[in-house]
Amino acid sequence: MKLALPTLALALAATTAAQYYNQSNPFHLVLVSKNKTINGDTLSACHAGAAIESLCLTNSVSVSKPNPIAVGVFYFNTSDQVVTPNATLGAPGILTYVLNANPNIPESVGLYIDLTTNVALPLLYPGDTLSTTLAFDKNELLNIQDYVDDTVNPPVAGDFEAYYRWYSCTTYYSGYEYVTLTWVLGKGKPQNPSCVKVDVKRKFI
Ligand SMILES: *[C@@H]1O[C@H](CO)[C@@H](O)[C@H](O)[C@H]1NC(C)=O
Ligand SMILES: *[C@@H]1O[C@H](CO)[C@@H](O)[C@H](O)[C@H]1NC(C)=O
Ligand SMILES: *[C@@H]1O[C@H](CO)[C@@H](O)[C@H](O)[C@H]1NC(C)=O
Ligand SMILES: *[C@@H]1O[C@H](CO)[C@@H](O)[C@H](O)[C@H]1NC(C)=O
Repeated sequence: MKLALPTLALALAATTAAQYYNQSNPFHLVLVSKNKTINGDTLSACHAGAAIESLCLTNSVSVSKPNPIAVGVFYFNTSDQVVTPNATLGAPGILTYVLNANPNIPESVGLYIDLTTNVALPLLYPGDTLSTTLAFDKNELLNIQDYVDDTVNPPVAGDFEAYYRWYSCTTYYSGYEYVTLTWVLGKGKPQNPSCVKVDVKRKFI
């Protein structure tokens, strides 16, 4: 038997090819954490490959980033064609950035998943084809939304919920070791022992 699909889920599925061209004003991404070292730090773009950047902590120091660097300026691109399932949780869109180059390269954040760890990396990639749909809730906190809950048996397709599974961790990607923002897959703890729980807050500039 085919199970019913919530109308909004259908609406979202139908628009996965949506163009996210309505750009917000620029903002900084500020970390909120119980950890005093990390609380109030911001995110920056750190080189992690050809036109690929990690979201590293501005004031962190690591093997590949011995000093603090400039704070990153980000934008949120939304689409008129995408339904907002729940305005309190925030409109779906993509987190964007402009990489300084000649010519400049518009980029967006997509989650990079390594199959042997539950710690996924939000990376900036050129364009929007690898982007992950994100949202900022009423409190300006960055989240990922889903309507499927598989922590119960059988899984339930219900209302959209917002998840805030962000951590700051020392990560390794493609030869670069940085302290970066990460997303932990599932509700368990990150397997990377350096991870510290954070929330990511938008602050318009
Ligand atoms: C975000 O929107 C702006 C304005 O429409 C556009 O120039 C830019 O390419 C978009 N960014 C991405 C990554 O699609
Ligand atoms: C998005 O962009 C379109 C085309 O430029 C415009 O008509 C629409 O008002 C914009 N929507 C929002 C929410 O800014
Ligand atoms: C707070 O974060 C710093 C930087 O990541 C880390 O060195 C320290 O161990 C953390 N403290 C706690 C109590 O988690
Ligand atoms: C939106 O989400 C909030 C928080 O989960 C919830 O309390 C509220 O009932 C939801 N609203 C709708 C219209 O589903």
